[in-house]
Amino acid sequence: IWAGLCLMGHCPGHSPGTGPSTAPGTVLAQVPASSEVVEAASREDSQCCVDPLSAMEQEDGIRQELGSLHGIPFYKSFIEGWPQVKAFQARPDDLLISTYPKSGTTWLSEIMDMIYHNGDVEKCRRDAIYNRVPFLELKAPKCLSGVEQLENTPSPRLVKTHLPVQLLPTSFWEKDCKIIYMARNPKDVVISYYYFHQMAKIHHDPGTKAEFLEKFMAGKVPYGSWYDHVRGWWEKKQEKKILYLFYEDMKKDPRQEVQKILQFLGKELAEGTVERILHHTSFQEMKKNPAANYETMLPTLMDHSISPFLRKGISGDWKNHFTVAQNECFDQHYQELMAGSDLHFQMEV
Ligand code: A3P
Repeated sequence: IWAGLCLMGHCPGHSPGTGPSTAPGTVLAQVPASSEVVEAASREDSQCCVDPLSAMEQEDGIRQELGSLHGIPFYKSFIEGWPQVKAFQARPDDLLISTYPKSGTTWLSEIMDMIYHNGDVEKCRRDAIYNRVPFLELKAPKCLSGVEQLENTPSPRLVKTHLPVQLLPTSFWEKDCKIIYMARNPKDVVISYYYFHQMAKIHHDPGTKAEFLEKFMAGKVPYGSWYDHVRGWWEKKQEKKILYLFYEDMKKDPRQEVQKILQFLGKELAEGTVERILHHTSFQEMKKNPAANYETMLPTLMDHSISPFLRKGISGDWKNHFTVAQNECFDQHYQELMAGSDLHFQMEV
């Protein structure tokens, strides 16, 4: 209820004078963090022009109203495909990559594909990331759904999902599949999600940043509440084989995080191979790699001129967007919704 009432900067409980001394409307950091501008590789270079959403372009419009799936705001076309997702048959050697949107899914997917191919860069250029790591719940008119794509994928499969833990198809638990969850701090997630709403045309106009921030805090965005998502998966890790990673840790020390993954998989790789994986999956490399940067999607589906999919790739960009008042409001709401949890986030690194 509180979140619904919260107008940024006017939230109940906001106590003037407790925050930084900057005026309430001031953005926390005025100087944009330097973004790495890397020339995108040309479309012709790409080996990966299979576009799972391309058929949507033929529809009257691709923007979708959100429906509700067991109380979670969800794309309507995905709801249509839900019976197949629910009945999905996982295989014991499937590895699930699970995230709340905009938490580094593509980054982790590229790392995993590189690990699965022993650091062979060429093999990891065989197709676009959205085909190499199919998106379980994807469903769009006149094209293969995520489930259909996965049925055509040889084992061992990498599977991507954004589903909240309670909606994961039961066969993943029955088959005791390995799962890697990656979480990112909510302030960077909401900013990344805001720009993603602008560039990925399945979404409606997100409105102003302040409006979107309110929707995010209220869980009225695709996949619902970030708080429920990260907490739900965190709690599940007590009883199941889940490696819970953080985007911020991956930024700080990617080598250490890759080693954690290798240990989780029970796999060893030569030092030089790990080095190659780290280089290939750096933000700069992924940004110019058409197999990883989503630029093979039709501009009618993703318009990178509005905002590139690999946008900034940093921790703490929220400071360039949140006002002091918004930040105070957000922090208070965060504390209420994360109360009682031992799950902690680094808001910057
Ligand atoms: P920003 O919008 O903050 O730049 P997802 O893949 O879950 O949709 O997440 C996308 C976010 O991960 C984007 O964040 C994107 O730039 C970032 N990202 C993708 N690859 C990355 C990499 N190699 N290093 C750091 N961040 C990366």
